[in-house]
Amino acid sequence: MDALKNVLSKATNDTATPPQPSPEAVSQLKEKYASAGQEHVFTFFDSLSAAEQAVFFEQLSRFDPVYINDIADKALHPPEDDDTAADLEPLPESARASILDSSPTDINKWYESGLDLIGSNQVAVVLMAGGQGTRLGSSAPKGCFDIGLPSHKSLFQIQAERIRKVEQLAAKKAGKDKVVVPWYVMTSGPTRKPTEDFFASNNYFGLDKDNVQIFEQGVLPCISNEGKIILEAKGKLAVAPDGNGGIYQALIVSGVLDDMRKRGIQHIHAYCVDNCLVKVADPVFIGFSASLNVDIATKVVRKRDATESVGLILCKNGKPDVVEYSEIDKATAEARDPSNPDLLKFRSANIVNHYYSFSFLESIPTWAHKLPHHVARKKIPALDLESGELIKPAKPNGIKLEQFVFDCFPLLPLDKFACMEVNRADEFSPLKNAKGTGQDDPDTSKADIMNQGLRWVKAAGATVVSEGGIEVSPLISYGGEGLEYLKGKTITAPAVLELEKA
Ligand code: UD1
Repeated sequence: MDALKNVLSKATNDTATPPQPSPEAVSQLKEKYASAGQEHVFTFFDSLSAAEQAVFFEQLSRFDPVYINDIADKALHPPEDDDTAADLEPLPESARASILDSSPTDINKWYESGLDLIGSNQVAVVLMAGGQGTRLGSSAPKGCFDIGLPSHKSLFQIQAERIRKVEQLAAKKAGKDKVVVPWYVMTSGPTRKPTEDFFASNNYFGLDKDNVQIFEQGVLPCISNEGKIILEAKGKLAVAPDGNGGIYQALIVSGVLDDMRKRGIQHIHAYCVDNCLVKVADPVFIGFSASLNVDIATKVVRKRDATESVGLILCKNGKPDVVEYSEIDKATAEARDPSNPDLLKFRSANIVNHYYSFSFLESIPTWAHKLPHHVARKKIPALDLESGELIKPAKPNGIKLEQFVFDCFPLLPLDKFACMEVNRADEFSPLKNAKGTGQDDPDTSKADIMNQGLRWVKAAGATVVSEGGIEVSPLISYGGEGLEYLKGKTITAPAVLELEKA
C-alpha cells in the first residue's frame, strides 16, 4: 500500500471547498515544485482570491512534481528494450483456446461451471468507462449513447440488462430467489457526474442501486513538449484521466476491492463500455478461466486486417503481453503466418474483455506503481504565462500520460494467463467513430445487434420476413437461449422483442 501512495494521481470525490492553506504550507509546496523545475505553476497564484488559492493548493498538493517529471521522462524516453528489439511470437497453444473450435462439451462445461460461480455470488463485473470518446465526437459518456436500436436503449442499459439476465439464469440453476453480480463502473473526472445522473434518472436500469458502484479513476497533469506542467487557468492545472490502466490504483483507492472482499468475490470480468455485443459476466469465459486457475484471461477475435486499430495479444520476451496499435511497427502488423500465408502472423485482436482472479487483484499494491506510462500527443489548451491568455494550439503542443490496462500482463508467467478466441459477430462491435464513418460507428453497432437477434430467432425456428434484423432484449435472452416460444412464428423485421411480449 505504501508503494501505491507514491502514485499521487489519486481519485477524489471531494467537492467541498478545501480549507485555506497556511503561508508556510504554500511556501513549502512552492519549494517542492521549484526544486522539480515546475515553479511556473505558481505564476498567477498571488493574483487569485483566497478561495481560488485554496482550491488550487489542494489540486497542486495531490501531485508529486518529482514523480510527474520522472514518469514523463520515462514515457518520452522509453528503455531500449522496446518492440523493435523484442522477441515477439504468437501466444503458445498451451495458453490459447478457441470457442470456434472447442468441442460443444467443453463449452457447455465452462458455461455450467461459470453459471455455478455466478450462482454462488462469487462473480463481479468492472466496467471501464472513463474514456472521453473524442473520436465518436460526443461529449456525453459513451455508455449513454443511443446507437439507434428500435428500443433506443443506451449501451449502459444493454449491459445492465445482460447482468440482470445472467443473474436470473444463475439463480434459476442454483435454485435461489436472487443472485447478485455487483457492477463497478469506473468513470473519470469528465464522465463521473453525467454517468451518475444517467444511472439515477434511469433507475439503475432495474438493478439494485446497492449493487452498482460508480467510482472514479485518477488524473495526471498534462505536460508540454518542453516537459513543463501545463496550466489550463491561472488556478488550475490541465489534467487528463490516467488511462484505463488507472483502474488498478482506482480499485484500491475507491474501496472497490474492499467491497469485493466483503462480498466474497473470487472472479472478475472487466470490459470496455463501447462494445455493444459484450457478454457481461459471460459464464463461459468465467468457467473457462476459473477451470484453468489462471490469474488473468483475455478474449480475442481474429484481427480484421493489418490496419485495424486493435492491440495484439502475443508473447513478448516469453511473457504474455499486448502490443498496442498505436505502438506497433508496420512489419509486425503485416507479418504473415509462416504456416498459412493467408493469415496474419499476429491476429489475436484484443477486445478488452479480461478475467481476473480476486487474489491477483489483491496483489495490486505490490506492482501498480511499476506500470509504465504511455505518451499520447495532443492539442492541449494552455495558459500563456506572459499574457495569462488561454491558447488553443493548432498542432500537438504536449502530452497526456496514460497507463494501459494490459500492462500488468507481463507480470504473469504464461501458465497463469489464458486467451480465448471468440466469434467477432457474437462478441465484438466497438463504437469508436462518429456516425457515417462506416466502420465501428453507431450504424455498425446497431446492425451487429440486429443481425445477432436475427440469427437467434431463426435458430429458434421462427420465420423472419423483410429486412432490418431483430432486436432481442437481453431480458429475454442473454446469448440466444430461451427463445423456444418463437418456434413456428413469423416475425416481420425490423422488430424488437421486449420482455412483456414474450
Ligand atoms: C482499446 C485497447 C485496444 C483494443 C481496443 C478494442 C487499451 C489501452 N487499448 O483501444 O488494445 O484492441 O480497445 O476496442 O485498452 N478508458 C478509461 N479511462 C481512460 C481511457 C479509457 O476508462 O482514461 C476506457 C474507455 O472508456 C473504454 C476503454 O477504456 O471503455 C478503451 O478506451 P479507448 O480509448 O476506446 O481504447 P482504444 O484506443 O480503442
